[in-house]
Amino acid sequence: PAAPPATFVIFGALGDLTRRLLVPALVNLARAGLLADDMTLLGVSHHDGDDEHLRQALDDFVKDDADWQRLRGRIRYLRGDFADPATYQALGTQLTGNAVFYLATAPSFFGTVVDQLGEGGLLNATAGFRRIVIEKPFGTDLATAQALNRQILTQAREDQIYRIDHFLGKETVQNIMVARFGNAMIEAVWNNRYVDHVQITAAEAVTVGTRGRFYDGTGALRDMVPNHLFQLLAMIGMEPPISFDAEAIHTEKGKVIAAIRPIDPAEAIRGRYAAGSIAGKPVPAYLAEPDVDPASRTETFAALKVHVETWRWSGVPFYLRTGKAMPVRDTEIVVQFRDVPLALFRETVVDRLPPNRLVVQIQPDEGISLEFVVKRPGPVVNTAPVAMNFRYKDHFEVGHQTGYETLLYDVLTGDQTLFQRADQIEGGWRAVQPLLDVWAQGTPEEYAAGSAGPESADALMHRSHRRWHHLG
Ligand code: BG6
Repeated sequence: PAAPPATFVIFGALGDLTRRLLVPALVNLARAGLLADDMTLLGVSHHDGDDEHLRQALDDFVKDDADWQRLRGRIRYLRGDFADPATYQALGTQLTGNAVFYLATAPSFFGTVVDQLGEGGLLNATAGFRRIVIEKPFGTDLATAQALNRQILTQAREDQIYRIDHFLGKETVQNIMVARFGNAMIEAVWNNRYVDHVQITAAEAVTVGTRGRFYDGTGALRDMVPNHLFQLLAMIGMEPPISFDAEAIHTEKGKVIAAIRPIDPAEAIRGRYAAGSIAGKPVPAYLAEPDVDPASRTETFAALKVHVETWRWSGVPFYLRTGKAMPVRDTEIVVQFRDVPLALFRETVVDRLPPNRLVVQIQPDEGISLEFVVKRPGPVVNTAPVAMNFRYKDHFEVGHQTGYETLLYDVLTGDQTLFQRADQIEGGWRAVQPLLDVWAQGTPEEYAAGSAGPESADALMHRSHRRWHHLG
């Protein structure tokens, strides 16, 4: 059903996120009949401009059809400084009833905007809801995340706050819960009795490119680990919730994140890409990218061994890795099962039987596959690894989506399931804080752009006789 009517206010209306993802996602929702016909989009930004100016800035990013034209006519622009109370007075006169405030701004404005919204009285409507969506990065370490949570919670209730992690909008990520809690067969072996270890990889073939200004102050760890990768870890590691309600799910995810043992710097590797080539194209070194400090210590790759101290996962390491300038884009989760207790086909097997693996391919080519062993046809007993392969595209028709559709619809309909509660964010920072402290010194190990990361990342696995799943 269509979401209730609301004014959708975007702070940072001319930014990249708004143009590339938010507005295209809203148009997709409109196309699917999921937006109220009279929804208004109100863009706020400090740049000069007017309604028509904003509409034109968006035209290039959406398919021009009747749905876009209808929404386009309902777009308004408000020029204003985010720190100036006058902006919020002007905003207030344009709002009645339901409103969503989406903070697509630089993170340094998150606290300011929420304060101003609160002090301007915009977070309490006499009728209807007022909700705030906060993008990442949510803080830069544990102390700043706690401070930001404290600050926004003085102005808004937790049920008004939607801390976004766009990974949770991905179909395959949402599918993890259905795969686990909708299939008796999977959940039965989902524990330290049967699982040897888990690998979570988010490899990107893109380089830092023009994002140097943001990225050099952030790095792979802050950008990807306590948020995206820990959210995936939580989906894999959580206990079954008592219901499919947001609170019940948050409680279970929060428990897993709280159970992550603070990462031991001796079990973490940081890397930085040197010049190399990706798909046959030469790529410059990270240090040669625009807006990167020549004395930078920023990592573009991180690999860590994570211990989840729960009854279910004790003794099962979770290996996480993420990097830029890798050979291919590949976001996947590999659950590798233990060896069979006794190798009966010893004579015919070189070393040991290949392990069973469940591979959740998050992107690209979304799907799930199960690797197992069969007998090779022939008179001698010989084994071979094979895979059962489920690909979304073979079964379902999915039009082009940005990944933000579900998330925006959920904000409008008041479903917080796919957002992060304060404790999850703080738990994530708490677990990586030892690395943030140690990585403030020293420099990352280099890896050639287009390679699978620094050698030490492989060594991290080899130490326990394991290896990373191949990329792509
Ligand atoms: C963002 C990071 O949160 O996620 C980017 O800031 C990264 O650096 C991106 O590229 C990856 O998202 P996706 O959806 O392309 O896997």
